[in-house]
Amino acid sequence: MAVADLIASSINRYVGVWAAAPALVQLEATVVQWLCGIMGYPAGSGGLLTTGGSLANLEGIVTARRERLPERFLSGTLYTSDQAHHSVRKAALLAGFPEANVRSIESDARFRIRLDVLRDRIRRDRAAGHVPFLVVGQAGTTNTGAVDDLSALADLARDERLWLHVDAAYGGVFRLTGRGRRALAGIERSDSLSLDPHKGLFLPYGTGSLLVRDRAALRRSHAVRADYMPPMQEDPEFIDFCESSAELSRGFRGLRLWLPIKMHGIGPFERNLEEKLDLTEWIAAELRALDGIEIVAEPQLSIVAFRRVRPGLDDDALDELNRRFLERINAGRRVHLTPTVLRGRFVIRICVLSFRTHLDRMRMALEDIRSALEP
Ligand SMILES: Cc1ncc(COP(=O)(O)O)c(C=O)c1O
Repeated sequence: MAVADLIASSINRYVGVWAAAPALVQLEATVVQWLCGIMGYPAGSGGLLTTGGSLANLEGIVTARRERLPERFLSGTLYTSDQAHHSVRKAALLAGFPEANVRSIESDARFRIRLDVLRDRIRRDRAAGHVPFLVVGQAGTTNTGAVDDLSALADLARDERLWLHVDAAYGGVFRLTGRGRRALAGIERSDSLSLDPHKGLFLPYGTGSLLVRDRAALRRSHAVRADYMPPMQEDPEFIDFCESSAELSRGFRGLRLWLPIKMHGIGPFERNLEEKLDLTEWIAAELRALDGIEIVAEPQLSIVAFRRVRPGLDDDALDELNRRFLERINAGRRVHLTPTVLRGRFVIRICVLSFRTHLDRMRMALEDIRSALEP
């Protein structure tokens, strides 16, 4: 992967327009097709590589806005769960929507969007004269790895005539595994999705992607002409990335995906992701067996959230206990666990997503958790 970057930087070719480097543009288009295939998108789908999930969410929301709303779009409202990554809200703001147009929908006990609340909110918004146009589903939340019921969300989007964008930045590539395919069922029915190879495919930072079911939608929503630009490709087989994204100048990003997959095949990635799922199930089982530990979010992908509990302590005291517990775990400097807040309470999360994390490291985590539990 580093070799791919070395080559790309050394040749320094411009892939914003097809005519400047047809083979290299084609190589990125091929890589995007592979990603579409992994996600179960049909023929006619496409997309582009972005610098990450935040930019992919932004481009996805802009595409939805331009496809579904008129030029004066401020009556448009969009919906996502209270567990969505903050980049979704940020993207909506950057796409021009006031904060009040972004509806944060309550999640259920497994941290998945509540469809009954969503339907009700859409109905009330329509009655009040708003124009619901987009729902952003979660395929692996940052807090707990929760996956919305994507099939039900796709049904709802169809019934309500909403664009369905799925933030699969973290969780999407688990579709390479059997368990991931089951958890993510329905994602292939979305209109667009964000997928970060720099997370689940372990590639260098700066490797994200936006995939769209109808690649012509990207062009319709992004193409702007100028006299000094060369003629753009009309053949649907070829793409000018500047017409499908916010960028004009862009480097040769495709090689960092193309080269490792060509060299190793997709098998090692698949096996590595299976291992991450196994490791997460393993640590969840070990934690469940520990006295004084409560699992707050069971693994849906490769994240588990837990906390320490002690009878007689109120919520604030429990939060304080867990803050100190986390400090003690991380003080060993062998593992680094991160906190989050779920339903207003401080919890600790383990996210297994490095190709270097194997059972030995998980055992270390467990040892450090155990010794942090000791008085
Ligand atoms: C679910 C989810 N969406 C979006 C993002 C943003 O991705 P990036 O950091 O690549 O911009 C993240 C990052 O952690 C994420 O976990």
